[in-house]
Amino acid sequence: MLLGVNIDHVATLRNARGGVEPDVLTAARICKECAVASITTHLREDRRHIKDEDVEAIRMLPRVRLNLEMAMTKEMQEIALRLRPHAVCLVPEKRQEVTTEGGLDVAGQLDYAIEFVKPLLAKNIEVSFFIDADVRQISAVSKTGAPFIELHTGRYAEAFGTADEEKIFEELKGASVFARNFGLKVNAGHGLNYQNVSRMHEIPNLTELNIGHSIISRSIFVGLEQAVKEMKALVEE
Ligand code: PXP
Repeated sequence: MLLGVNIDHVATLRNARGGVEPDVLTAARICKECAVASITTHLREDRRHIKDEDVEAIRMLPRVRLNLEMAMTKEMQEIALRLRPHAVCLVPEKRQEVTTEGGLDVAGQLDYAIEFVKPLLAKNIEVSFFIDADVRQISAVSKTGAPFIELHTGRYAEAFGTADEEKIFEELKGASVFARNFGLKVNAGHGLNYQNVSRMHEIPNLTELNIGHSIISRSIFVGLEQAVKEMKALVEE
């Protein structure tokens, strides 16, 4: 499995004071030096952490695979078509939420989703849909032409160590197998940390994990390079 590092919360800290510290581009460079598979940023509608100029600067870094998380809006589609990141992950977005709360409802807006991804795929951008472990959503994604899903692991992360963990984990496993049968590649992410990440190896067919909050949190104590290396070892083992 590969590791993609989400560096949004470097920007969260920077924006707490305004100014330039900590520098998002330096964080991206450190991740690059650690040879992570991708650098992920979520350009939110309200620009609460990552800003347009951050995404543009990361996009210009040589040999960095940028995975841009974004909502399915016209504004974001235009930005993606202009910047041409290597990958785009389509996520639901609510203004009030603290973080992405649930998966995207692709089945409920299938025609829109099909039209939305067409120009992105035409520019060879690798599109994924961030969805819950739900067969209805997986089969909807398979009709859009997008090659990837990203399974939302937030419920698993919350249930980790509780009586609900096994049931939720089995749903993720089943979803990954189901997606593969539809010819989809599978990434996963949200809420993964240094403790709960190891079970991801039990899920067949996973390509990449996208992890942000726990890595950036640990980096406060051990430095970003060390925090990334530790997670990379757990993911790639
Ligand atoms: N994947 C997606 C689609 C996300 O929206 C997020 C959070 O921005 C993540 C992965 C990373 O989640 P976390 O920060 O909890 O590791």
